[in-house]
Amino acid sequence: MNRVPPAAHHRVLFEPISIGSKTLRNRFFNVAHGTAYGVLRPSTWASYRAVRAEGGWAAVSTEFSSVGPSSDESPLHSSDIWDGEDGRRHKAMVDAVHEHGALASIELHHGGAHAMRRLSREPALSPSGLAGELPPPAGPLGTPKVMTLEDIERVEQSFVDAAVRARDVGYDIVDVLAGYGYLFAQFLSAFHNHRTDKYGGSLENRARFWIETLGRVRDAVGADCAVASRMSIQTQGPWGHTLDESVELVRMADPLVDLWDLNVGSVLDWGSDISPSRVIPEGHNVELFTRVRSATQKPIVGVSRWTSPDLMAEVVRSGVIDLIGSARQSIADPFFPQKVYEGRIEDIRECMGINHCISSLDRGNMACAQNATAGEEYRRGWHPERFEPLERPDVSVLVVGAGPAGLEAAIGLARRGADMVHLVDSADQVGGHLRQVVDLPGLREWGRFIDHRKIQIDKLPNLQLIASTTLSAAEILEYGASHVVVATGARWLDTGLAPGTHTPLPGVDGLEWVFTPDQLLARGDRPVSGCRVTVYDAEGSYMGSGLSQLLADEGYKVSVVTPHAQVTAEGDLTLDGPAVRRSLHTSGVAMYRNVSLTEVGDGLLRGADEFEEPFLLETDALVLVTMRAPVDDVYRQLVSERNTLHESEIEAVLCIGDAQSPRPLAEAMFDGHRLAREFESTDPSVPLPYRRESLQFVK
Ligand SMILES: Cc1cc2nc3c(=O)[nH]c(=O)nc-3n(C[C@H](O)[C@H](O)[C@H](O)COP(=O)(O)O)c2cc1C
Ligand code: SF4
Repeated sequence: MNRVPPAAHHRVLFEPISIGSKTLRNRFFNVAHGTAYGVLRPSTWASYRAVRAEGGWAAVSTEFSSVGPSSDESPLHSSDIWDGEDGRRHKAMVDAVHEHGALASIELHHGGAHAMRRLSREPALSPSGLAGELPPPAGPLGTPKVMTLEDIERVEQSFVDAAVRARDVGYDIVDVLAGYGYLFAQFLSAFHNHRTDKYGGSLENRARFWIETLGRVRDAVGADCAVASRMSIQTQGPWGHTLDESVELVRMADPLVDLWDLNVGSVLDWGSDISPSRVIPEGHNVELFTRVRSATQKPIVGVSRWTSPDLMAEVVRSGVIDLIGSARQSIADPFFPQKVYEGRIEDIRECMGINHCISSLDRGNMACAQNATAGEEYRRGWHPERFEPLERPDVSVLVVGAGPAGLEAAIGLARRGADMVHLVDSADQVGGHLRQVVDLPGLREWGRFIDHRKIQIDKLPNLQLIASTTLSAAEILEYGASHVVVATGARWLDTGLAPGTHTPLPGVDGLEWVFTPDQLLARGDRPVSGCRVTVYDAEGSYMGSGLSQLLADEGYKVSVVTPHAQVTAEGDLTLDGPAVRRSLHTSGVAMYRNVSLTEVGDGLLRGADEFEEPFLLETDALVLVTMRAPVDDVYRQLVSERNTLHESEIEAVLCIGDAQSPRPLAEAMFDGHRLAREFESTDPSVPLPYRRESLQFVK
């Protein structure tokens, strides 16, 4: 790190702190978060974690690390620590983290009734044989086994064995997970724990299993590791324990713990913890932490969707917590601590709270909507702060379209030292469709994507933004660029063609009372004031629910119809779904699920539900949120003019982002980033192969 001291008001964040026998170099603790790389992709995993250490985090944690087969979490992605081979893979990660001066922390985990066990196929373990509250398909089916005293002893021993293995491969901190509704939390909770022996009943009895385990882990690792425990101090439903109980539990276990790792929520309530910006503000847990502070003098690391260095410094200075716990800000910007240290606040890629990270993790690979390099440190060799200089910088690149892909490509190419990058957009501002998205209720923070890139544009002398300019194909050919990158985005279909039908919706054509999101957001069109509006959301992401809320807030009588089982089905992965639906309900929005529209006409929508029963709804206006199509006319004209292209000496015309294939923000941005990184490959329109890690094949 640059040796210039940090700004006075941030200095508190860089004071070292001791936890047990270990000293953290500053107050930034990169808390447990799953990646889907783990021990199954050890090099990807080690590089990912190492970059966070390089960026200045004082401690870098694993995701949940299962301690044995009774908590096999497949098909989820635990970084298991069951045996020596797992240990070897952990060691590579730990060594990589240590190389950059950070401490390595492991989150030891047992899922109890919630463990997936798809490969081990052992029975689930639980305090009282009560099935987990997580409904299918997310949760496992069946009634878990009541743990016998022998089971309790065995699980305690598996934590001890895992802790010793962790110590032996060099971990500095072992963090016993007692939160999120997993096994220890099940024992702590009167909802799950109905036992009548010494492990059930009073809070003291319910805490016994966890406290015994903490004591045994502590004895086993001795002074070689600090011992932490993660506790979810409040849950939304009845399935956890109360805040008062959490305070009492902290008092009880305090002598056994060097660091309290605090969050909120449970498996059914992840959105309270991995809080979407759409519904939960930064700093939302501070009041809760204040209560726990009264019970302990031990250091506390607390998460709270932190992104602002000022707020972080304030909360540490107040003494409520000692360490800033962060998962998502580290994903969005691994170099956050270093940038704060150097006073480069404007260079921070602030986490937007979109939660693409958690939804993409659920789909099998954690990725970020702000940081294209997350997870690509090893796979593609991308560093979040460094770009390879172009071998041939004497290029002049014209990027047409300043939406997410165009912005990312233009900035990447300018960083790589291209002589000239011109970024042209017909709008007077950058951001493309995202500029309108941020006007939807709750999505203001998504604008951080644009804000960050605007600042970077201003800093790059070889990147010129040319706004309010529409270029035709002929004008592009005459522009004088050596390379043209078309990033002209996408538009919403006005035909009602939907993922589940692949045909236009009969009757829609030419109706004046049918709108698309583009008409409502970009053009500001509106149905007659106060009328009945139906939003047909066959896409299932944020747009349908966002427009429904917007129109309800504006006084329309809104219905939302979706062919999916839930309104804003994707919201169940980005974790804002439940809160968004609650808000729609409170705003009087009628929600019709499992309904596909089949025809529109005479102020009437016709459709069918999942049982093919007819559905009829009278409406004055219809908003179609079904599918987006690429806006690629300019690209197609350019590539069809092969001869003229040759004459104009344009070396390549490339199409990226939504203009090629409309997709989520993270993926469109990734495409622009990839193009910048692979600009000099033989054919940059085709992604280069990436490094694949596979398990060793033994015949
Ligand atoms: C992609 C992702 C994966 C996560 N995986 C875990 C996990 O394995 N174990 C855990 O205790 N918490 C996990 N969390 C929760 C974080 O540790 C943290 O409590 C939460 O994200 C709030 O912190 P933040 O606002 O800084 O992101 C995960 C969070 C994210 C975003
Ligand atoms: S995907 Fe969104 S919420 Fe997740 S880390 Fe990136 S910016 Fe933050």
